[in-house]
Amino acid sequence: MKDLLRGLNIYIIGMMGAGKTTVGKLLAHKLEYRFLDTDSIIEAVTKKNINQIFAEEGETSFRNLEGSVLNQVSCYVHTVISTGGGIVLKQENWGHLREGMIIWLDVPVDVLVERLKHDNTRPLLKETDLKAKLNDLLNQRKSLYQQADIVISITKHHNTEDIVEEIIKVIPTKIKVNFNPELN
Ligand code: S3P
Repeated sequence: MKDLLRGLNIYIIGMMGAGKTTVGKLLAHKLEYRFLDTDSIIEAVTKKNINQIFAEEGETSFRNLEGSVLNQVSCYVHTVISTGGGIVLKQENWGHLREGMIIWLDVPVDVLVERLKHDNTRPLLKETDLKAKLNDLLNQRKSLYQQADIVISITKHHNTEDIVEEIIKVIPTKIKVNFNPELN
């Protein structure tokens, strides 16, 4: 698989609570890839958590930081990169995402609600009606997430191992073989 990927980065996209970080870590381990997480890098660089950044500097500033972190991590190879749920919103981010293979973890809103109902680390989910807010965000973003190369549809019955196994099964079918040494 490592040979097949030839260093191609893998970007994991999807809603908050989709499991991007957990899945990304295990996938990186199985592929013998490096693992990076854009939110963690932003927190490390700013020495602030995501809530603080949103509260003190606003969402626009966060999105700019997110874009510049993506710009920098896209210089790596052999890397699985888990992204923040809103990375798909900036059009210029797609130029970087498209340099790698993009995987959308598609998780139903009811499952997200279960996972996020006690979470207080996501500034966009401070509203009382969590389900309505998640539906709202998903409606705004679905057509963007659908641009991924691979869509993994997840139910509450799938565990991390199942999901990573499925990703590893699908990746080879999505790699374009555009170099045939016998023809050169
Ligand atoms: C956001 C998702 C969060 C984080 C920020 C905004 C979003 O990351 O980047 O709170 O807009 O969906 P996770 O998707 O890792 O929770």
